[in-house]
Amino acid sequence: MASLRVGAVLLFAVLLLLLEVASAGLNGYFGTKSRYEDVNPYLVRDPLSLGPAAAGSGLPPSCAPLQLRALLRHGTRYPTAEQIRRLGDLHARLLRRRPAADAELSAAACPAAAALAAWQMWYNESLDGRLAPQGRRDMEHLARRLAARFPALFAARRRLVLASSSKHRCLQSGAAFRRGLGPSFSLGGDEAEVEVNDSLMRFFDHCAKFVALVEENDTAMGQVKAFKEGPEMRKVVEKVASALCLPVEELNADLVQVAFLTCSYELAIKNVTSPWCSLFSEEDAKVLEYLNDLKQYWKRGYGYDINSRSSCILFQDIFQHLDKAVEESKSSKPISSPVIVQVGHAETLQPLLALMGFFKDDEPLKANNYIRQTHRKFRTGRIVPYAANLVFVLYHCDQVKNPEEEYQVQMLLNEKLMLFQHSNETISTYAELKHYYKNILENCHFKEECELPKVNNTAIDEL
Ligand SMILES: *[C@@H]1O[C@H](CO)[C@@H](O)[C@H](O)[C@H]1NC(C)=O
Ligand SMILES: *[C@@H]1O[C@H](CO)[C@@H](O)[C@H](O)[C@H]1NC(C)=O
Ligand SMILES: *[C@@H]1O[C@H](CO)[C@@H](O)[C@H](O)[C@H]1NC(C)=O
Ligand SMILES: *[C@@H]1O[C@H](CO)[C@@H](O)[C@H](O)[C@H]1NC(C)=O
Ligand SMILES: *[C@@H]1O[C@H](CO)[C@@H](O)[C@H](O)[C@H]1NC(C)=O
Ligand SMILES: *[C@@H]1O[C@H](CO)[C@@H](O)[C@H](O)[C@H]1NC(C)=O
Repeated sequence: MASLRVGAVLLFAVLLLLLEVASAGLNGYFGTKSRYEDVNPYLVRDPLSLGPAAAGSGLPPSCAPLQLRALLRHGTRYPTAEQIRRLGDLHARLLRRRPAADAELSAAACPAAAALAAWQMWYNESLDGRLAPQGRRDMEHLARRLAARFPALFAARRRLVLASSSKHRCLQSGAAFRRGLGPSFSLGGDEAEVEVNDSLMRFFDHCAKFVALVEENDTAMGQVKAFKEGPEMRKVVEKVASALCLPVEELNADLVQVAFLTCSYELAIKNVTSPWCSLFSEEDAKVLEYLNDLKQYWKRGYGYDINSRSSCILFQDIFQHLDKAVEESKSSKPISSPVIVQVGHAETLQPLLALMGFFKDDEPLKANNYIRQTHRKFRTGRIVPYAANLVFVLYHCDQVKNPEEEYQVQMLLNEKLMLFQHSNETISTYAELKHYYKNILENCHFKEECELPKVNNTAIDEL
């Protein structure tokens, strides 16, 4: 009897271990639902660590930062109402398939379904995409790390310009970032803590051409749709249906995706490995990651030009402020905006990175090249996890041989130095950078890019 109990305990321990191992293998594949810690794992041990890369910035010692512009994605959030509805639907199906009187028998026959039916559906639609408590911590910690990395810019009483998308999770993220900096930071005398600017942070909503061609166009996501019905996804759907003892017709790619997302949400929001994770192997996770990346690629990335062109309003705003700081520095004036922090979405950062040419693969992501894209650059989990941040730092350098070297720029994505497209180096003179992006700076105008081609009503009427 005792040995039986020991055996049961051992078995349970082994099962727990397997669950841990299994879910640890999934963490890298959550796409835009990835934790920031999955990009910078050293933060798990110490959320204020500047990481192994902090030491070597590659800057000449005579350079001092003049201006920092940080574009942030909001922190960890709850699922949207739509996702919660789908999860409720899936969970209800699992509850229905379990005959209450026969719970034990049913559990033995279908342990995964029994475990998930017993799982408490605690999400409710009023949570709709709001910032989770973990999201506040993401932002407070990020603020403290940035301040520690650039102490001169974030020194007490320096002015902070803080702008945000109008979404509640972004406003809350901005406020949490602000709190992370401590009470001594001046907001320039304005009472308003966070200024809303959707034309900069939600440019996609204001771009009529993007809305018509991509957002509200059923055929624009053709590759995504095809992958959902393709052989890789079908295999995952069949596997999950079999694990849940459900007829395969009762499941589809969307429901399987919501099960996978729930695994990611429970980890990101509650720091637990949920039983939803046990439905998926690492191979399945790779397929679901591709599905997520595919959608981002066609909706926010290189899939359609208008995705990135709609962000040129933000791109130009960044360079206008850099120009202004250079001008002020040249005329020995104080820098009016040493720190500019703007909070938006994955959908804000991704198009901008595409406009600048980052993470572009030789071949487009398509429904039929899953295998060939195994080593793709476009992996949204690496690029835009929760609390993702793209930082531009302008430096003033003394004792330079060439006057062009007086102003230099670095870019960091998720606190790691980026390699500039034009040089593969982590630092560029400001002049060189502007030269490389001359065409976008001069020829990309939001209004023209986003205008819909004029419809000839006469011609349509005659049809
Ligand atoms: C969600 O939960 C809150 C409190 O737990 C409750 O007041 C609210 O009515 C719930 N909303 C829905 C849509 O169920
Ligand atoms: C948003 O930012 C743009 C660019 O800096 C500016 O022109 C515009 O006035 C701002 N809008 C609001 C509502 O502050
Ligand atoms: C919708 O997208 C397809 C595929 O890109 C394109 O051919 C079509 O013109 C778009 N339709 C509209 C109304 O923009
Ligand atoms: C999350 O859970 C892990 C393992 O259970 C634990 O080591 C870690 O401290 C937890 N992290 C937080 C932020 O609670
Ligand atoms: C940067 O490095 C990549 C990979 O090594 C190479 O393909 C690319 O041509 C390089 N770009 C420049 C501007 O040197
Ligand atoms: C609209 O279409 C009609 C008939 O095809 C043509 O006669 C007219 O010139 C067009 N108008 C414009 C403004 O293009």
